[in-house]
Amino acid sequence: MFKTLEPQQPDALLAVMAAYAADPDPDKVDLGVGVYRDASGVTPVMSAVRKAEQRILDEQVTKAYVGAGGNRPFAAFIEELTLGALHPARAAGRVVTLQTPGGCGAVRLAADLIQRARPGTRVFVSDPTWPNHRPLVSGAGLGVDGYPYYDPASGVLGFEGMLGALERLPAGDVVLLQASCHNPTGQDLAPAQWEQLAELLARRQLLPLMDLAYQGLGDGLDADAAPIRMLAERLPEVLIAVSCSKNFGLYRERVGAVIGVTGDRATAGIVMNHLQILARRMYSMPPDHGAAIVATIAQDPALKAEWLAELEAMRIRVGTIRARLAEALAAEFGHDRFGFIRGQRGMFSLLGLPPAAVAALAADHHVYVAGDSRINVAGLPEARIERVARAIRAVAG
Ligand SMILES: Cc1ncc(COP(=O)(O)O)c(C=O)c1O
Repeated sequence: MFKTLEPQQPDALLAVMAAYAADPDPDKVDLGVGVYRDASGVTPVMSAVRKAEQRILDEQVTKAYVGAGGNRPFAAFIEELTLGALHPARAAGRVVTLQTPGGCGAVRLAADLIQRARPGTRVFVSDPTWPNHRPLVSGAGLGVDGYPYYDPASGVLGFEGMLGALERLPAGDVVLLQASCHNPTGQDLAPAQWEQLAELLARRQLLPLMDLAYQGLGDGLDADAAPIRMLAERLPEVLIAVSCSKNFGLYRERVGAVIGVTGDRATAGIVMNHLQILARRMYSMPPDHGAAIVATIAQDPALKAEWLAELEAMRIRVGTIRARLAEALAAEFGHDRFGFIRGQRGMFSLLGLPPAAVAALAADHHVYVAGDSRINVAGLPEARIERVARAIRAVAG
């Protein structure tokens, strides 16, 4: 059986992680892997999460199955966090939410649902986008193609090119959009651009698949979800993939949700029914622990306030590191070539460096970034900012 399998290239980012792990230099810096790190370089368990977890351990009386829809209080909370408490689509009963194993599970389930509803549909992703988008979508049997988005060399969003490409798509195609904190560019659309895009999507009858993996790490919980809320008011149907990996620090617990905004209440029920069947035939039910933690936090005002404060501190810290790195780079280069880092949002930015410079950063300066020159700003300890800026200056030419 297995003799038929061809060897595969290891994931490029895993190779960066392995090279970093093997580097004995005490001053090495890992800006590759996409996790938030505090000033001491640790990806912390949030205090509210730890307390909720303890409460679950103390009070949980059974490990029996939760049920096909997963944790319902969790789903209700995520739906409210994403769409807001008073969203008209929710009030009309047009929205359904299913707990999934992480944001990846949500993107995959959304793709499976699209494949069921309209086999062979094409999904368009931004160029560039998070490398796992294409395999997650094509794994469901859908076609995947790109739309222009951002020029890494100049650090500029190509909005007109994006609109032009989407304008040519036939009705029924799907456009995968990151609501905020775009991975890997850090470059989000401005509110007025979202408005323009909404008009195009409605007129061309395109379905947005919204990926929300960094809510709360850009401009705040409500602001980061605002494009989704607006689209769900303007369009009859929206699919949303939510991840709690970053904003609750629950990466390994695999917590997420897929939200379907549908045309009417009856369709909402049918969509939920199909989502449950699709999940059942893939993994049956999502893991409980992480969702139970989120639900515990959501239902306890003190824990919720603590989580909000921790998330806000993370958000502010990432913004501060962005500003300080842009400043340090401007001092090294003598001009603001990397000023875009200051204005971008979320954990990532692209340095726009060629592969040889990326290789030299690791080999000569022990600074590890992803192969496309993506840096995880949220992984840069404050004490290393100047050293990293010097390294970038040395390889950038
Ligand atoms: C843009 C984007 N979407 C979705 C995800 C999914 O995250 P997870 O499956 O770990 O919740 C990630 C994680 O890095 C991401 O960057």
